[in-house]
Amino acid sequence: MQSDVMVTSRSFDEYAAFFALDPNALPPRIIDVSAGAAGFTAEANRRGSRAVAVDPTYALEAEALTERVRAGITRGQGMIDDNHVRYTYAWYGSAEQRTRLRAAALADFLADRQDHPERYVTGALPRLPFDDDSFDLALCSHLLFTWADVFDEAWHDAALAELLRIAPEVRIFPFALRGAGDAIEFVPRVLDRLRRAGHGVEVRATAYEFQVDVKDVLVLTRGAAQSSKSR
Ligand SMILES: C[S@@+](CC[C@H](N)C(=O)[O-])C[C@H]1O[C@@H](n2cnc3c(N)ncnc32)[C@H](O)[C@@H]1O
Repeated sequence: MQSDVMVTSRSFDEYAAFFALDPNALPPRIIDVSAGAAGFTAEANRRGSRAVAVDPTYALEAEALTERVRAGITRGQGMIDDNHVRYTYAWYGSAEQRTRLRAAALADFLADRQDHPERYVTGALPRLPFDDDSFDLALCSHLLFTWADVFDEAWHDAALAELLRIAPEVRIFPFALRGAGDAIEFVPRVLDRLRRAGHGVEVRATAYEFQVDVKDVLVLTRGAAQSSKSR
């Protein structure tokens, strides 16, 4: 298990905003990869999708997993405090509202994992335990790119190929480093290889902003070479 990586609990509302999803028109089969303790899967199922979450920490019992999330909250807050000029609460309204969303998402995740353990699958990129095309849409929040100091360029190539194997559309947010939101040197090369492999690579603007100026979601479409904006 990759223990350097924080385990966080973003809410359905945050996911809908930064993945540019219509909450009332979700695809039928969605996978949340590196889902951590996010509340997305619970709410997406309530909204009629068959959503599944995958994360290496699902090997842990609820208590140990909750402990990892609590440690992540402390560490995450320290990172925000250290880079406070690089964050904005405009989308959230306030720091307290962000904390409330995270706490509610954690509670929702824990209850849903207890009631529907089959929705929470233990697994890690770059090899996921699903057949080709098991899903219509794969989401990956706050793992690829933002942890580029932990996972190298070759790992990102392999992880992206794996995501495009299990779903024809993949959305990734963000694609800047955590903390100060620095650009990642290898992103243009990775995107270029995806284009040359024939995949659609779109950088789509969203209404979400927490790291200042980190607002775009990366939308990949298997085999549909096109680009709306280049990096
Ligand atoms: C910062 S958290 C994001 C959690 C959730 N997506 C959210 O936005 O709140 C990163 C997650 O990636 C998971 N992770 C670490 N290494 C992974 C890997 N190789 N494959 C998939 N997930 C991994 C961690 O366990 C952690 O839950």
